[in-house]
Amino acid sequence: MKRKIAIVPGSFDPITYGHIDIIKRSAELFDEVIVAILVNPDKKYLFSLDERVEMINETIKEIPNVKVDSFSGLLVNYAKQVGSNVIVRGLRAVSDFEYEMQLTFMNKALDENIETFYMMANKQYSFISSSIVKGVSGFGADLSKFVPEYVEERLEKKMKERG
Ligand code: PNS
Repeated sequence: MKRKIAIVPGSFDPITYGHIDIIKRSAELFDEVIVAILVNPDKKYLFSLDERVEMINETIKEIPNVKVDSFSGLLVNYAKQVGSNVIVRGLRAVSDFEYEMQLTFMNKALDENIETFYMMANKQYSFISSSIVKGVSGFGADLSKFVPEYVEERLEKKMKERG
């Protein structure tokens, strides 16, 4: 039987417990999960691609059917390349809906075989985003509810380096 591969795409700048929840739940549902990091040369990231890969690898090291990869260009082309037609995204609040709907419809228009699945974020993660976590880091706040320790350490270090 054909193995079903799901892609969990995103910027992961950095990975949060919200992402981790979606990745783990996807790994229960699909044979293989690829956490696909977008590389967009026009976008400024806090963490380099290597740093984002390292943090995700640390996160997924004990989940055998999950791997990390990166892509540039269109997600539908990447999906085809890895033999998948499934995208999984997390949905936190109504505010996510419009953007996610655009993403889904655009991907469907580009490739009608693509299916996007949405998982409601667990409620303790419904307000966490990489951006909001970055916004409170660097001030010595306890971030342990939002990101794993190895991400928190890197965030604090990065913010200190930036001054
Ligand atoms: O974590 P993010 O930044 O919300 O993830 C957005 C992402 C990476 C899923 C989206 O920007 C994307 O797929 N970009 C690749 C370009 C593409 O395929 N665009 C068409 C769909 S809008």
